[in-house]
Amino acid sequence: MVPSETMASRGAAAAAAERSAKPLRLDIQSLSKAFAGRTVVDDVTLSVAAGEVLCLLGPSGCGKSTTLRMIAGVETQDRGTIRLDGRVLSDGVTSVPPEGRSIGLMFQDFALFPHLSVTDNVAFGLKGRRAETHRRAHRLLERVGLAAHRDAFPHELSGGEQQRVALARAIAPKPRVMLMDEPFSGLDNRLRDGIRDDTLDVLREEGTAVLLVTHEPEEAMRMADEIALMRGGRIVQRGAPYNLYNSPHDKEAAAFFSDINVIPGEVHGALTETPFGQFLAPGQPDGTRVDIVIRPQHVRIDFDRAGRGPNPTALDGSPARAIVVRSRFIGKESLVEFRLDLDGSAMSAIVPSVFLPKPGTPLWLMIRRDRCFVFPRS
Ligand SMILES: Nc1ncnc2c1ncn2[C@@H]1O[C@H](COP(=O)(O)OP(=O)(O)O)[C@@H](O)[C@H]1O
Ligand SMILES: [Mg+2]
Repeated sequence: MVPSETMASRGAAAAAAERSAKPLRLDIQSLSKAFAGRTVVDDVTLSVAAGEVLCLLGPSGCGKSTTLRMIAGVETQDRGTIRLDGRVLSDGVTSVPPEGRSIGLMFQDFALFPHLSVTDNVAFGLKGRRAETHRRAHRLLERVGLAAHRDAFPHELSGGEQQRVALARAIAPKPRVMLMDEPFSGLDNRLRDGIRDDTLDVLREEGTAVLLVTHEPEEAMRMADEIALMRGGRIVQRGAPYNLYNSPHDKEAAAFFSDINVIPGEVHGALTETPFGQFLAPGQPDGTRVDIVIRPQHVRIDFDRAGRGPNPTALDGSPARAIVVRSRFIGKESLVEFRLDLDGSAMSAIVPSVFLPKPGTPLWLMIRRDRCFVFPRS
């Protein structure tokens, strides 16, 4: 497991160096908030540079929206400081009101004004003469592909088109920061990918710093320059999508991004004995119970040769024989579930394309040492 870690931390260091070169647009230090004595946001520190997308990713109820609401200024923190371009927006002393923060908002329920045309919706928050505000609105509508609908009313548009109007309206006043709270979750899958990509293109062009909240790891990986993984009000890990996926902080962080297989073990002499051979557990004292975690897409499968499997290798360790319990095609790839001969435990593997062995088929499984994670059991 060591090589992947080294690679990831080098990537993280480079990313951090690159980040520190860009001035911070939004800078949040040690933000905390409790409701009725229960802490829901706990010492959260985050920063976003201009033109960068940071995703706040975590399960429902972990405090994402509360964090966003404090940044927007519609909720007040108990502790911590929020700065925009180095200026304090909110701390124990100062609090700039929401409308003075130069922060744009996009939510799932972006209510458009039903009695206003698309153009008037987009121009609504703009100051200046009508001809000017309409010119800016028209330019943005063109940018989001809605030039032909500028005189339409919201009810005449599809859900995806309404979402684009909401985007144009949110960026019209040129906010320095855009806060987005699960803005795409109301759209159906087919529409979503296109709108997500277009939205980010527009925001990057405008140089807006984006803080996007989502509970979907795929959405975060698709959109984020960086992900901050949140759990129970705290940021548990922050880094590029690649690093979070390939060097998760703990078992729960690994499990948030995909299903996982967990092989329990106990350390003796910095090694853990398993049906798949030995795993290194450097620095773990004898008797430590560990979980070896491997994603189903990283389990290797080989054929049974009259009761024998492939030879052990340094990278794959020892193969273990397993019996197919069930196999299903899940689109693009196949999910095969196994029972290990040795101890009857369950394992699953994901294989590209179509691979549907019959239940009862014996096969051999291997675990690539550079693709698994060894965590002390909590
Ligand atoms: N105004 C409030 N009063 C009391 N509890 C709240 C309030 N707002 C949020 N909460 C609670 O704080 C926790 C975090 O909520 P939220 O920030 O909305 O989570 P998320 O957006 O990650 O789903 C939840 O348990 C929620 O019930
Ligand atoms: Mg929320």
